[in-house]
Amino acid sequence: MSQAGEELVRGLEALVPAMRGELASCAAQDLEDLRVKYLGRKGLLAGLLAGLGSLAPEDRPLAGKAANAAKQALTDLFAAREAELAAETARGALSRFDPTLPGRTPEAGSLHPVTLVMEEICTVFTGLGFEVVSGPEVESDWYNFEALNLPPEHPARDMQDTLYVADNVVLRTHTSPLQVRTMLARKPPVAVIAPGKVYRRDSDLTHTPMFHQIEGLLVDREVSMADLRGTLTSFLRQIFGVDTRVRFRPSFFPFTEPSAEVDISCRMCGGAGTLHGEPCRVCKQTGWVEILGCGMVDPEVFKAVGYDPEVYTGFAFGLGVERVTMLKYGIGDLRMFFENDTRFLGQFA
Ligand code: DAH
Repeated sequence: MSQAGEELVRGLEALVPAMRGELASCAAQDLEDLRVKYLGRKGLLAGLLAGLGSLAPEDRPLAGKAANAAKQALTDLFAAREAELAAETARGALSRFDPTLPGRTPEAGSLHPVTLVMEEICTVFTGLGFEVVSGPEVESDWYNFEALNLPPEHPARDMQDTLYVADNVVLRTHTSPLQVRTMLARKPPVAVIAPGKVYRRDSDLTHTPMFHQIEGLLVDREVSMADLRGTLTSFLRQIFGVDTRVRFRPSFFPFTEPSAEVDISCRMCGGAGTLHGEPCRVCKQTGWVEILGCGMVDPEVFKAVGYDPEVYTGFAFGLGVERVTMLKYGIGDLRMFFENDTRFLGQFA
């Protein structure tokens, strides 16, 4: 073989130990650079192969064989080191994994306090034999007002700042239209409660445009004001505690006659009106807080739904769920219910 041929073969053979040496100290992130250096299109192997063409023809078979052997050896070396580094990386990740560490606890949601209290109230009333019903939040004027003895131009309509959807179509201002819907759909006796959202054009520290009410209605023969008092007193003591005192004050609602507002003894000061010598802010020193409106169903309402007021009597009541929730849990600010701060909501989990 010519001197040029021998030099080329020696060069090819020298590539293998050179690459082996460099691979041994090569880190995973430098592996690709090393591959390019030896096996790349402009790498060391390619550089030597370019010299093959200028060898004497009789030298070419041997030199070609050496070239193939070198290429195979380099490729094998590279693949072996690559696999070794990959295994090391995997072992490293495994040794950093500490199975004794506590896991991350996923945050669990909780029911909104208004939902909780609404469910609690429904549970009390179903325990007393009432059935839960519901109806639309968009109501016609007739269900929301007229059938409840609130004709057009009635001054009591001003008490409720109504949101209109169209002429004679409103967002219900109270859950009382469920009285009308229930009586139109059923014959007495009826005993229902209707929880749901109501809407008013009202927004300040103590009013929100949407809030929740629960309506109650019981109609049968010989239902009296004593039944109303007994039912509501039992309900309020189940919600606010057995030692809660309850009083009924005469009031007015177009759909009940007689009508009353119901107060419970203030839970903050225990009815004393003062707390640690200071005036109680919750009951404004009166010892009582208003909790709901109620009364005996007005005969005009019975007439609107086709019940005979000479045969049937009944009582109805309505209460605000946010208000009950605030008093029950001592929450001072209505806005807490609508801000969705999880530090607040999470306390009811
Ligand atoms: N609907 C009344 C309101 O929103 C509350 C109410 C009072 C409902 C007396 C009644 C009732 O059923 O008898 O202010």
